[in-house]
Amino acid sequence: MKRAKRLESIPPYLFGEISRMKAKAISEGKNLIDLGIGDPDLPTPKPIIDKMAELIYDPLFHRYDETETGWVDFIASVKRYYKKRFNVELNDNEAMLLIGSKDGLAHFVWAMVDPGDVVLCPNPGYTVVKVNSMMAGAEIVDMPLLEENGFLPDFEKIPFDKAEKAKVMYLNYPNNPTGAVCDLDFYQRAVDFANKYDIAIISDIAYADVTYDGYVAPSMLQAEGAMNCVIELHSLSKTYNMTGWRCGFACGNEYLISALNKFKSNCDSRQFPAIDMASAYALDNVKNDETLAVYKERRDILVNGLRELGWNVPCPKGSLYVWARVPEGYTSAEFTKKLLNEAGVLVIPGNGYGNYGEGYVRMSLTVSGDVHGSLIKEFVKRIKDSGIKF
Ligand SMILES: Cc1ncc(COP(=O)(O)O)c(C=O)c1O
Repeated sequence: MKRAKRLESIPPYLFGEISRMKAKAISEGKNLIDLGIGDPDLPTPKPIIDKMAELIYDPLFHRYDETETGWVDFIASVKRYYKKRFNVELNDNEAMLLIGSKDGLAHFVWAMVDPGDVVLCPNPGYTVVKVNSMMAGAEIVDMPLLEENGFLPDFEKIPFDKAEKAKVMYLNYPNNPTGAVCDLDFYQRAVDFANKYDIAIISDIAYADVTYDGYVAPSMLQAEGAMNCVIELHSLSKTYNMTGWRCGFACGNEYLISALNKFKSNCDSRQFPAIDMASAYALDNVKNDETLAVYKERRDILVNGLRELGWNVPCPKGSLYVWARVPEGYTSAEFTKKLLNEAGVLVIPGNGYGNYGEGYVRMSLTVSGDVHGSLIKEFVKRIKDSGIKF
């Protein structure tokens, strides 16, 4: 048997090598401090779990969801959320339910691109759009995210012929892996560029409500002209520690929403509708201030602790990630190995997110078992005790 060429064409899974290194260290009896994975370690807030426990008994939810764009009460609460949070009014055809935002990121390009079309992807970046575009036969054109530009792409640098051939552009702020955030001016420039070249933007705001120090993430749909060309994806995963529940949503241009919906309605039958209703309850009623306070405490301990060691890491205003330059003389992979072997701590090498991530590592604030920064302090202490120089 032979697997499809499109499957063989995609790069190896980012975390494969890391998992091997981690398994080896554990088999040698090392007790690692793992700042690798970006999966919220705190439980889903109790009111959401209680709501779900109530809903699970209702036979109404035991059947297929046969609605047009997703459980009607869920779509209504998404519309309320967009109005309250971003002052954006959506109609019923401008929002749809997703099985987590990854569902939308993966499938949108299948609905939009033909072989040979160009997809503009941030580099470094969360790889789902890029990999699916490759499988769909698209040409990937990188948009480098450079430190000197605040890890925002420079649209002027996209070659004219590639812009003309581009069908889709992927953007993600607050950003994984760089922790960068953007303002509405940036979104306006993105929308103006997309409207000029007739490009659909897929804007991933999975971390819009994971922000610190008073920074409030905008929605791209607040920019003028965005409703012509933007589909924006959001998720309950990071805001409410609900990664396992699988609930997200897409909002924006009706034609783009209907394209994604048409593709998806031939692939899946959505999730257990009780999840949608518990998620609607969360969007309407639950705040994530306590979770944010935990991440902020960890972020401050990590950033201040590493800076005291001489490692001048930035302090992110959004996302769950600290993205730091490795010391001179190391590649991302070499420095990751050094941290693992000499300090017993795990980070992700930046080149795993694209070649423009070379020279960086990513540290996640989601650390299982951490209480008030206990494991983050231990992480810093181990690096200090290892004698690694910065
Ligand atoms: C930038 C970004 N977008 C989307 C996702 C997917 O989240 P979910 O499918 O759980 O909504 C992730 C997950 O880590 C992410 O980092």
